[in-house]
Amino acid sequence: MAKRFAVVLAAGQGTRMKSKLYKVLHQVSGKAMVEHVIDQVEIAGVDKVVTIVGHGAEVVKETVGERSEFVLQEEQLGTGHAVLQAKEILAHESGTTLVICGDTPLLTGETLNQLVKHHENEQAKATILSAHASNPFGYGRVIRSAENLVEKIVEQKDASAEEAAVNEINTGTYVFDNQALFQALEEVGNDNSQGEYYLPDVIEILKNKGEIVTAYQMERMEEALGVNDRVALAEASVLMQKRINELHMRNGVTLIDPRNTYIEADVKIGTDTIIEPGVTIKGKTVIGEECFIGSNSEIRDSKIGNRVRITSSNIEEASMADDSNIGPYSHLRPKTQIGEAVHIGNFVEVKNATLGKDTKVGHLTYVGDADLGENINIGCGVVFVNYDGKNKHRSKIGDNSFIGCNVNVIAPVDVAKNAYLAAGSTITKDVPEGAMGIARVRQENKAGYWEKLPPAKK
Ligand code: UD1
Ligand code: CA
Repeated sequence: MAKRFAVVLAAGQGTRMKSKLYKVLHQVSGKAMVEHVIDQVEIAGVDKVVTIVGHGAEVVKETVGERSEFVLQEEQLGTGHAVLQAKEILAHESGTTLVICGDTPLLTGETLNQLVKHHENEQAKATILSAHASNPFGYGRVIRSAENLVEKIVEQKDASAEEAAVNEINTGTYVFDNQALFQALEEVGNDNSQGEYYLPDVIEILKNKGEIVTAYQMERMEEALGVNDRVALAEASVLMQKRINELHMRNGVTLIDPRNTYIEADVKIGTDTIIEPGVTIKGKTVIGEECFIGSNSEIRDSKIGNRVRITSSNIEEASMADDSNIGPYSHLRPKTQIGEAVHIGNFVEVKNATLGKDTKVGHLTYVGDADLGENINIGCGVVFVNYDGKNKHRSKIGDNSFIGCNVNVIAPVDVAKNAYLAAGSTITKDVPEGAMGIARVRQENKAGYWEKLPPAKK
């Protein structure tokens, strides 16, 4: 089989974004646009990916990583000039080359495959991925002859009124015979309104050489959306979100209001999980089956087991085992591991801590840097005092222990199993197994106090 290559154009600054961040690094559903593009190129299957970098080259390289080779385009002289930078790596190869822009995050591998298939069936030297646009403004137009054959692409800024009226647009994605592409690129000039070397000019050059050039018109124009400004970025995000949410719903996840549910691209969710409106799930989060995620919860890079109930809470880089629950209004911070059937109630913050099976932390508590065993009951208003102003220290509470309300555990403290800590205690020393730690001033009642008060206070 002929070899397949891909060239991803990602050197532009993206002036229209008005941003310090380079255009292709702007995120859509939690992933840089250029990463979405490379994901889909990989789905289509290629032997080699070459990404053209320029503005922000180092950051783009870091983001894409080892999935691609990189070539630096020092000056951004146009899309044709950009592809030509891959000459050293690709020009000697024979095969098929896919060229795709780093700013079209919605294109799917499926469409890329159809494009290549069309190209092969037509035995063409170049095939444009085109689309019918109701508002073609800003895109290059595909100009056809009276016989409906593709002749050339004309950019918006170079188009005559008649050409501008054409609705078939260039999506900025193409397949070429690799050798024909690099030969034609040598002939591309910059005599146009922008003074740039346009990649689309390759079409007319090949056509004039008598080669077959075609266009494959895709069904869903929305896939072709090129993001040049923040308005288009928001549009792309909405479309991507719709696609992601539909996939989850088809896989058996209930979304009460998919238009107001924000799930990033790499999130995994099990069947029969129900998600209420206003929920955001980010990063590499994995959620199990039959969970309930209540409105306004935000979960990032976390692992949630089966039958977990989360209401209006914030969870980051943490894990919750099966049948546990949290909320409303609680916060799990990084390195927190919540065991099976654990109950975390409201206004609880947990950080860098482990909580064993069946342990309960009902209300208004801070658990930081602590290891809690199984079946522990933590009362209201307990604080694990983990910071002495300079260093953090860890505490430990054994299985079956009972921590009364308003206890301060001054770390480092080791409380053995079956222990009791009396309400209101400030615990600074270890507590042995089965003991009760009590550290508070005894109550004293002063008799006849009322009688002694001056009349004004009564
Ligand atoms: C381009 C096409 C246009 C098409 C549209 C689809 C050209 C001349 N025009 O226009 O026909 O309808 O895409 O979205 O190709 N880039 C480089 N180096 C450069 C210039 C650009 O790497 O010197 C990269 C950009 O980073 C971007 C991509 O190429 O990812 C496209 O460039 P952009 O300026 O966005 O082209 P459009 O004006 O959108
Ligand atoms: Ca563009």
